[in-house]
Amino acid sequence: ISGANKRRHSSDSESEPEGESSCSEEEKKEEKQEIEKLSSTNVNCAGKPEEDTKKPVVSQQAAPAVSSKPSCKPAVFVPVDRSPEIQEARLKLPILAEEQVIMEAINENPIVVICGETGSGKTTQVPQFLYEAGYTSSNGIIGITEPRRVAAVSMSQRVAKEMNLSHRVVSYQIRYEGNVTDETQIKFMTDGVLLKEVQKDFLLLKYKVIIIDEAHERSMYTDILIGLLSRIVPLREKKGLPLKLIIMSATLRVEDFTENTRLFAVTPPVLQVDARQFPVTVHFNKKTPLDDYSGECFRKVCKIHRMLPSGGILVFLTGQAEVHSLCRRLRKAFPFQKNSTAGDDDDRKESVEEMRKFKKSRRRRKAATLPQINLDNYAVVPVDEGDEDRDAETDDDIAGSDVDLDLGDGDSEEEEKSDSSLPLYVLPLYSLLAPEKQAKVFRPPPPGTRLCVVATNVAETSLTIPGIKYVVDCGKVKKRFYDKITGVSSFRVTWISQASANQRAGRAGRTEPGHCYRLYSSAVFMDFEKFSAPEITKRPVEDLILQMKALNIEKVINFPFPTPPPAEALAAAEELLIALGALKEPPMTGRLKEQQAAKLSCPISPLGRVMATFPVAPRYAKMLALSRQHDCLPYTITIVSAMTVRELFEEFDRPAASEEETVKLKGKKGRLVQMQRIWAGQGSLQKLGDLMVMLGAVGACEYSGCTPKFCEENGLRYKAMLEIRRLRGQLTTAVNSVCTDAGLYVDPKMKPPTEAQATYLRQIVLAGLGDHLARRVQAEELLDDKWKNAYKTALLDDPVFIHPSSVLFKQLPDFVVYQEIVETTKLYMKDRVSWQLPAVEVDYPEGIDRYKYFARFLLEGKVIEKLGSYSQCLLSSPLIMLKTWSKLQ
Ligand code: CDP
Ligand code: MG
Repeated sequence: ISGANKRRHSSDSESEPEGESSCSEEEKKEEKQEIEKLSSTNVNCAGKPEEDTKKPVVSQQAAPAVSSKPSCKPAVFVPVDRSPEIQEARLKLPILAEEQVIMEAINENPIVVICGETGSGKTTQVPQFLYEAGYTSSNGIIGITEPRRVAAVSMSQRVAKEMNLSHRVVSYQIRYEGNVTDETQIKFMTDGVLLKEVQKDFLLLKYKVIIIDEAHERSMYTDILIGLLSRIVPLREKKGLPLKLIIMSATLRVEDFTENTRLFAVTPPVLQVDARQFPVTVHFNKKTPLDDYSGECFRKVCKIHRMLPSGGILVFLTGQAEVHSLCRRLRKAFPFQKNSTAGDDDDRKESVEEMRKFKKSRRRRKAATLPQINLDNYAVVPVDEGDEDRDAETDDDIAGSDVDLDLGDGDSEEEEKSDSSLPLYVLPLYSLLAPEKQAKVFRPPPPGTRLCVVATNVAETSLTIPGIKYVVDCGKVKKRFYDKITGVSSFRVTWISQASANQRAGRAGRTEPGHCYRLYSSAVFMDFEKFSAPEITKRPVEDLILQMKALNIEKVINFPFPTPPPAEALAAAEELLIALGALKEPPMTGRLKEQQAAKLSCPISPLGRVMATFPVAPRYAKMLALSRQHDCLPYTITIVSAMTVRELFEEFDRPAASEEETVKLKGKKGRLVQMQRIWAGQGSLQKLGDLMVMLGAVGACEYSGCTPKFCEENGLRYKAMLEIRRLRGQLTTAVNSVCTDAGLYVDPKMKPPTEAQATYLRQIVLAGLGDHLARRVQAEELLDDKWKNAYKTALLDDPVFIHPSSVLFKQLPDFVVYQEIVETTKLYMKDRVSWQLPAVEVDYPEGIDRYKYFARFLLEGKVIEKLGSYSQCLLSSPLIMLKTWSKLQ
């Protein structure tokens, strides 16, 4: 091992001349043809030359034989100045011993697969090997994709620290933010970010190496990137600008990549990094608890802590609320001594601090004369506090229905008191947790304490926590399920796969032999699926299909997916994109079969091209593309940003640990409900429903300078507000680049929309969500009680309801547009997991037969100016609206 870090790459050939990246017109034309050929026709995936083509098929060149051109060799040795501690820690990583083998394989082959146990050092070390070997020394950088934002950010920070380089050099880019500069040489990013870049530059010329990390996770974008790169690598080779592709994965099934002849003409070498994995003893429960796995976790951790020797504990649970609740319970059971030096229980300190501030601000508010609500400023100031109690009646409704709620272990009587004198240092870990809190798990626990990390699935493979000796695995994971046809989604807690269970167990044997406690029986384990299915087979794919069409991949069905999505998901996606106007409608001539085939290979429309430039799903992209008139763009940008960011509002419906906390949560909840009512606006602004609440919240927050304090006082999630701000900036730039005369700039403090603008905005929202229309079931059509206050939708036979957290909950308008239906206790029209409901009331004039009016509105559509050109287009596609309408009757 000690020798592993010595450099073997000769530095004699200082900087070898690289093929010039500027290319002649002819070459450009050729490249375009190649892309078109690769994508729009049935690619000869097996790498055999097509019969009637003179040109050699690109994938042939993927063969290793051609690849060892001089330009592939590392040019220079780049020294890195690491601290002795870092160096020592690195040398303990198993991957260091394999450096030479890995670098040789990379030098010799265009595509390499590296498999290694989680924690063996793939993510943090491989980029450093490449850097030192000079892969970034002449133009071209190293790009690493991660399926999770947490990993992209934290890994870039870790690598920068290890290499003693600034974040200007080792940077990251995730959807909303990044610190990439001109000096960046190692760039961590989410897979979605790289996919967007392929759209701008198909050959990814700015990269010398692309590392696709965590490929075993089989995230949708990772899969698609591997498909694309299987074609890009040979194209780059052909241009004399070779690109290295490294696929990294935990030791899980990799045959989907390596033995897929559609993907790679030549099977890439698979390097196995032997992790120094200590034996882990797996203990199954005799019985499998039915529901209360969280309580079972608690009991298990208590036992471990009391009876077993020192060593960190890692608990796997399914969601954020569960994580917090278990943390709280454990802290209560094993409190820090009052004068313990180890007691940096930040969370508790924070909450005491919060309470103090809250009380103080209440006092202050009472004392001062309250400024009046000012709609121009989005009512930054709350109204009288007397209202709070009235809102409490809706609380129960919400509590009973929210998916992210704790699964009920909040009982405090049977809380076990510990007899262990060792304090337990309890830390939560989940993806929405603020980065600085996430980072705590990597630091050693305070001396004299035992570390206990309560985590969601992020700890399974993305992040490795040092010093874990005991794993407690509840055997469950929270996943989002989509109905393939209706797109209705629900979060369900299901059993994990055997592969996941083994990954989780492996976390215990990183530094010494460990133990894994599975809270289920071995019989149940045997019934688990072997592997979990790739994401692409389980979710709607319209966003992906639009991206691919924008790359001129028309016959999506022929694309070399590692695992193709189901045919019905592809068909549903194409249909939606046609309805949105993003694809050119196929001719209605010919036989039915031909028509159907044509439907599955429609080219992108000019509107579709505009839509594809926005980093949001097609429905929201359509809204942006139609907002040119009446100065609606800033509002649509804000609405779309808010609709696509997770969890705008804080979650207060969580079980409290103490009486004091219950009061505090209730107060905060009341305040938020009150603010939401103010943000909902007046007059016809109210018809914008929850979207006006979002506009109001964002507006108010910006007027206050978007401070953590304002967010905390008003129940807004600060991180979400920052994300919205960044996304607004990003979307504004995107709009300006499509529509050069728009001259938009983001004034964070925009005024509320006018009444007329609010009406346009509702139409714009309807244009993107035309099939998400719901009609209130009238009294005379009530079939039975279950339809009371219910809505009928075009997609489902079952009654659907407005969520109690919506501002439209009590108003029950006749028509609403919803963002999504989520199934919890009932089918709710609801946004994601958060408790906002972006429902918009659809307008119709009084006194007219509303059905007739509505039908006319739908049929005529509205002709408006489209973004990016002066051509006109229908606001709502008559096709989609007619279909929706006929189903609502
Ligand atoms: O990618 P892979 O799972 O193979 O391993 P890695 O993420 O590169 O992690 C290698 C080692 O670095 C692990 O043992 C981690 O404990 C350590 N690490 C750390 O101490 N702090 C971080 N922020 C990230 C990783
Ligand atoms: Mg990794």
